[in-house]
Amino acid sequence: MNQVYVGLCGLGTVGTGVVKLLQNHAEEIKYKVGCEIHIEKILVHDIDKKRDVAIQAEWLTDNPDELVNNAEIDIIIEVMGGIEDTNLLLEKAIRNKKHIVTANKDLMAVHGQKLLRLAKENNCDILYDASVAGGIPIIRSLTEGLASDRIQKIMGIVNGTTNYILTKMTDDEVAFEPVLKEAQDLGFAESDPTSDVDGLDAARKMALLANLAFKMEISLEDVEVSGIRTISQEDITFATSLGYTIKLIGIASINDNGKVEVSVEPTLLPKDHPLAMVKNEFNAVYVYGEAVGETMFYGPGAGSMPTATAVVSDLMDVVKNIRLGITGNEYILPQFQKQLKEDDE
Ligand code: NDP
Ligand code: HSE
Repeated sequence: MNQVYVGLCGLGTVGTGVVKLLQNHAEEIKYKVGCEIHIEKILVHDIDKKRDVAIQAEWLTDNPDELVNNAEIDIIIEVMGGIEDTNLLLEKAIRNKKHIVTANKDLMAVHGQKLLRLAKENNCDILYDASVAGGIPIIRSLTEGLASDRIQKIMGIVNGTTNYILTKMTDDEVAFEPVLKEAQDLGFAESDPTSDVDGLDAARKMALLANLAFKMEISLEDVEVSGIRTISQEDITFATSLGYTIKLIGIASINDNGKVEVSVEPTLLPKDHPLAMVKNEFNAVYVYGEAVGETMFYGPGAGSMPTATAVVSDLMDVVKNIRLGITGNEYILPQFQKQLKEDDE
């Protein structure tokens, strides 16, 4: 196989970064995967919109069938967002034997296990490292680098938008609304930023991390969530005067009875705590393993090129798996396999 063809769903903040990275790093990518990766089609809402990246006009379409039913396409990269319609699109793509790379935590938190099972049945890969903590390879680290360990606890900042807002409110005393607008303009916020502000985005990410770390099915309903909407400038000034910083912290841990507890809430941290020093859209995640002890992962948690790095690295893994003939081996939680089997019967 000398060429692989990709269908890209979405050409917004992340999709644009993906195209730029594939173009700018084409030589290195080809060297590392051993073949050329071509974009065949790009699905967008508005094919007439001005784009911030060099593309061929014939790539663009607003018809999903031109990707999912396209026999040329081997891999679908989904960076358009959305849950139900996007799930249907990906299910159809998988049934047509397309491998999937996605940055969509909303989708993976709701339909991830079913999609993974469908992919396995169709001998397809689904990789989703970009869905948590943008450019930080945290999913990859849990499933590969720390795979041999027993994870006890995960704690950190996993939403760039709220960290950006809290940083600006703390350091520059800027009001909530204008900073949220800045975070939207910079491409960090979700299309509906209430999911960032109210902690839902972080909760979905913590549920995904908890699933992988503890190998138990944790859904959004299992996460105690509160966001940053109620944090006032007065709260921040008061915390600062006492030597503290307010951060939106996600924690997933397993207690002595084997029960997994997951929460996302604004938390007071001493100013010299490492997480207190994580600024702007940056994320940081501590992972505590029985054998490894404490590890910390830090980097840009949102934004075009950082997120594109994670997406394209997943794409390269899929290409390598195709070339090695080892696709369709993604991890499905054992109890979910059982539950799905019961559903089928
Ligand atoms: P944007 O809103 O910037 O871009 C979305 C793109 O998808 C646009 O090109 C839009 O088309 C297209 N699109 C959306 N819905 C449809 C549809 N129904 N049919 C056809 N095209 C559609 O989103 P982002 O790039 O910011 O985010 C994309 C995904 O990546 C989301 O799941 C998000 O959660 C995730 N993510 C985002 C990060 C970030 O920093 N932004 C970081 C990590 C993950 P058009 O351009 O014509 O409007
Ligand atoms: N809206 C998300 C955030 C994008 O701010 O973290 C990255 O998942």
